[in-house]
Amino acid sequence: LRRILHLSDLHFGRLQDGLTEPLLDAVARARPHLVAISGDLTQRAQPDQFQAARAFVDRIDTPVVAVPGNHDVPLGAIFERLLNPWGRWRRWLGDDLEPVWRDGRMDVIGLNTADPWRWQRGRFPRNAGARLAALAGLTPDPDRLRIVVAHHPLIQRREDPKAPTRGGRAGLAALARAGVDLVLTGHLHLWRAEAANGMVLCAAGSSLSTRLRGEDNDFNLVEISTDHITIVRHGAPEGSTAYAPVGEATFHRASEGWRSA
Ligand SMILES: [Fe+2]
Ligand SMILES: [Fe+2]
Repeated sequence: LRRILHLSDLHFGRLQDGLTEPLLDAVARARPHLVAISGDLTQRAQPDQFQAARAFVDRIDTPVVAVPGNHDVPLGAIFERLLNPWGRWRRWLGDDLEPVWRDGRMDVIGLNTADPWRWQRGRFPRNAGARLAALAGLTPDPDRLRIVVAHHPLIQRREDPKAPTRGGRAGLAALARAGVDLVLTGHLHLWRAEAANGMVLCAAGSSLSTRLRGEDNDFNLVEISTDHITIVRHGAPEGSTAYAPVGEATFHRASEGWRSA
């Protein structure tokens, strides 16, 4: 069994008052094997915002896999955006935009779905299918858990407020072929957990920011084993300074893949 704490859309630069310490406390108390952060760590990719994000990550006493979101590209700095769109991310959060973390039971694979040429819309990285297949080939054990962390959801609902990710549907199929069990995303600032293509797709809302779309600030505590996934959503309602469990989704593995329990 592995426990993953899933944070998203922190948006340093536009924080909810008084939530950072409670969130760090909740992370420490959950004692996860890994913390996944699915993008938009900053509000406007400003140096002080990256610095604050770095300081936050440094206070997490667990391995962290973080990927960029559309807000982590310096939109207004035209030349920098053209020539070195990931320079700021690299400086503060690490050279690898698609980090991989492995232990004896699982592979956690970051995908960078942010497109520096677009203001907001994501794209499934062209090489991701081959990269995932190669990674799966390194550890062919069918019982190994494979988890993908990406900012943009690969599929969304018709009523969702933002443009769907380019190549998302084909990307989803590629992830399924590579034996992925669980995909952790953010971006819409809407919590969600569902089974699709034999995988579990889980989105967190915004863990810390005031960009809320009427939802609580939240994070997910995910427990995953070979045949069970439990996702407990922890929310902090507007004005409160504590996260508490507010919902749960469970899945089990059937012969054709993961299904809602
Ligand atoms: Fe966001
Ligand atoms: Fe986003």
